[in-house]
Amino acid sequence: MTDKEVQQFVILDGKKTSREIEVEIAEETRKLVPVVGRPPHLAAILVGEDIASRTYVKSKFKACKRVGFKDTLVTFDASVSQETILGKVAVFNNDPGLDGYIVQLPLPDHISVEIVTDHIDPKKDVDGFTPANFGKMGLPDPSLLPATSRGIMELLARYDIDTRGKHCVVVGYSHIVGSPVSILLAGPGKATVTVCHIYTKDLAFHTRQADILVVAVGKPNLITCDMVKDGVVIVDVGINRIPDSSAKRGYVIKGDVDFENVADKCSHITPVPGGVGPMTIASLLLNTLDAYKRAHQF
Ligand code: GUN
Repeated sequence: MTDKEVQQFVILDGKKTSREIEVEIAEETRKLVPVVGRPPHLAAILVGEDIASRTYVKSKFKACKRVGFKDTLVTFDASVSQETILGKVAVFNNDPGLDGYIVQLPLPDHISVEIVTDHIDPKKDVDGFTPANFGKMGLPDPSLLPATSRGIMELLARYDIDTRGKHCVVVGYSHIVGSPVSILLAGPGKATVTVCHIYTKDLAFHTRQADILVVAVGKPNLITCDMVKDGVVIVDVGINRIPDSSAKRGYVIKGDVDFENVADKCSHITPVPGGVGPMTIASLLLNTLDAYKRAHQF
């Protein structure tokens, strides 16, 4: 697109929206702290040296500080045993001064994500990954929702994008994003949902049908302009580090969508970075606030 052309599409600005949500959270927190006697408290377990995981956790704790939450980080070497992690999980489950915690993924291969997740107290599961919370997501009275999916639904709602009756195509079926967001879109979102994944035969056939396209694969430029229809709403969940020697950090962050060539066909599109990522963090804070309020009978 040249400078002279008028930008037709609306950017779904996750950074701005998440900051608005943070202001609301900070306001509510300020009112509740004198009543409860302490602020909401979020903890994270971080295993190994994965740079991206460290960056994500750092961003989550910076956000905690902005809204007045207490935060606690527990780190382990990549060689830590599963028993040690389960021991920490048990300590966190039994700590009345802690409202919610996450185990940052990925974990080293010798530690089972399923076993660790299964031991997290659902009341403190602010990632919304435990079987109890995941299962309740499809019931009339859900509990803590998976954070990224909650963030996507919140972002669409705050831009007045009605999902009811729309055809939503979700690409990717991970338990972190693709699977839960498809459930939320089809359930509370009242959308017609198509889920695509690695075995889908003609991906472009399906993506071209989408009124709303959610892409959560982790493959840069997976979605090109010939794969979408005019007026589509695109939510790009991908976070891919592309080596770039001209960039200050030696890499740039790109989503799964070829933004430069696709955006002009969209009515709305999330940028990467600054789209879904900040909304995941805002949802983590919302879940922590919900857990805190429930623990104190609000
Ligand atoms: N790794 C990538 N995304 C997430 C997330 O939302 N939560 C956790 N715990 N780990 C992640």
